[in-house]
Amino acid sequence: MLLTLALDLPSAKQNLKLVEELASFDIWLKVGFRSYVRDGKAFLQDIKSINPNFKIFLDLKLYDIPNTMADTAEEIASLGVDMFNIHASSGAIAMETVKKRLENYKNPPLVLAVTALTSFDNDSFSKIYGDSIKHKALEFAKMSYEHGLDGVVCSAFESKMIKEATSHDFLTLCPAIRPFGEDSGDQQRVATLEIAKKELVDFPVIGRPIYKDENPKAKVAKILEIINA
Ligand code: C5P
Repeated sequence: MLLTLALDLPSAKQNLKLVEELASFDIWLKVGFRSYVRDGKAFLQDIKSINPNFKIFLDLKLYDIPNTMADTAEEIASLGVDMFNIHASSGAIAMETVKKRLENYKNPPLVLAVTALTSFDNDSFSKIYGDSIKHKALEFAKMSYEHGLDGVVCSAFESKMIKEATSHDFLTLCPAIRPFGEDSGDQQRVATLEIAKKELVDFPVIGRPIYKDENPKAKVAKILEIINA
């Protein structure tokens, strides 16, 4: 498991202060839509200059026509980030076009597909996709695997099932992790680190339980101890 910290603090300054505090850990950092729109390329460079071993997951969730997505994927690859994501519902041609275009790069970023946004309940999801979340998430995961993506963003509770239906090497990145059962906030189906481990989650995404802790460095050390046990 590779700990992925969500950098969701309200300013670049606060996020970078946190990153500096955690500079001794070689962890993954998730840069979201809001933060990238506000702080841009310079923010990514600032992160890497604090510790070049930090890996960056740019969480922009692309959804557009295949050619525009592939053009954007190339721009993302040239930023030097390590992973980004697209919506699975953008389709098989978009997946293939994006991956094909990245073949021109020496160390291309990993590409994950978002299956179902966790903000949907089953009813509102079915109105758009005509299917239950669980069934559709599995179908999207299989499609992403068959069309060459590296993994999916999914619920920790779906990780093992997805790997069994695709491959154990097909990556799962799962938000809504509360390592030691902390406050779930607005997240619905939260999983502890123990559950994430049993579910074979590759990237547990953790935000508030780390950056709201009074000692984020000690919290990360404790999380890594469990991950590496
Ligand atoms: O603070 P918390 O640990 O809940 O943060 C989870 C992170 O994962 C946030 O950045 C949130 O936007 C993101 N995320 C999510 N559910 C998804 C996709 C991303 O919670 N389906």
